[in-house]
Amino acid sequence: MIVLGVESSCDETGLALYDTGRGLLSHALHSQVAMHEEYGGVVPELASRDHIRRAIPLLQQTLEEAGIAAADIDAIAYTQGPGLAGALLVGSSIACSLGLALDKPVLGVHHLEGHLLSPLLASDPPEFPFVALLVSGGHTQLMRVDGVGQYELLGETLDDAAGEAFDKSAKLLGLGYPGGPAISRLAEFGDPAAYKLPRPMLHSKDLNFSFSGLKTAVLTVVKKQEAANVCEQDKANIARGFVDAIVDVLVAKCVAALKQTGLKRLVIAGGVGANSQLRAALNAAAAKKRFRVYYPELEFCTDNGAMIAFAGAMRLSINPDAARRDYAFNV
Ligand code: KG4
Ligand code: ZN
Repeated sequence: MIVLGVESSCDETGLALYDTGRGLLSHALHSQVAMHEEYGGVVPELASRDHIRRAIPLLQQTLEEAGIAAADIDAIAYTQGPGLAGALLVGSSIACSLGLALDKPVLGVHHLEGHLLSPLLASDPPEFPFVALLVSGGHTQLMRVDGVGQYELLGETLDDAAGEAFDKSAKLLGLGYPGGPAISRLAEFGDPAAYKLPRPMLHSKDLNFSFSGLKTAVLTVVKKQEAANVCEQDKANIARGFVDAIVDVLVAKCVAALKQTGLKRLVIAGGVGANSQLRAALNAAAAKKRFRVYYPELEFCTDNGAMIAFAGAMRLSINPDAARRDYAFNV
């Protein structure tokens, strides 16, 4: 069965074709980062308009790369939510229109399920069950995953998501959008001893997170340094202080989740999963505590169509009736 995946929840238009027999056939992505950069963040209406412009040419590209015709698609999966309403409506309209035109069934996929299952697209995928850390721009969750659709929430952020903390702290440091990769690069040059920032909820007995206090701590040191005319090295030191703090908390909670569940497999998903400092710290913890950590391919950490095609295919393999031909979907 060949499933077309359509991702349009935020600032990336992703199209992909996944074959349950042969694996991922092709995928194409257009990032709107350059377009939103000058505004310092995603402008929702511009995002929607760009999805409309990009989606069909990207579909043509994926079909060409896969060497198949549109009529060979068996089902269409699109990101139903969460995300920007206008952007989601574009993906949903395109999926339903294609479904009607090709006489194929359509199903909505939860964006986070796409992220959660994306490590299974790797060449050496984890087996179930595992603990998953989902760290994106909108969410930070720890989950026990026993199979497709069998998810138990173990803990989540009580305020900002990890990616949001990266982006907001980067903004405070005057770095561009998206801030995550920028603050991570700058942190490489920072002195780890210069700023010891708070590690919120590090010692709480639960598996929840809180990152808004860390962002406020960054604001406080930035303000202090601005008054004293902040230099480039100082910016790097603050970035390092921030990254070390957030990575410490994420790693400690992952280790606690593994201990609580008794599992030995940890899966990382979502945009922050691309972070090199987080990966290094998790790898070190895995070697020390004897668990195995799995990451999605770097290109599938951030939003993409492949994870939606894959999650749709997995859903359909459990329940073939999950896709419908009435084309009456909510986003
Ligand atoms: O999963 P994603 O593409 O979109 C959402 O579903 O939210 O995640 C985007 C988030 C942004 O906050 C971005 O700054 C962050 O992932 N991100 C990173 C890195 N690459 C992306 N954060 C830290 N280090 C990175 N290398
Ligand atoms: Zn995402």
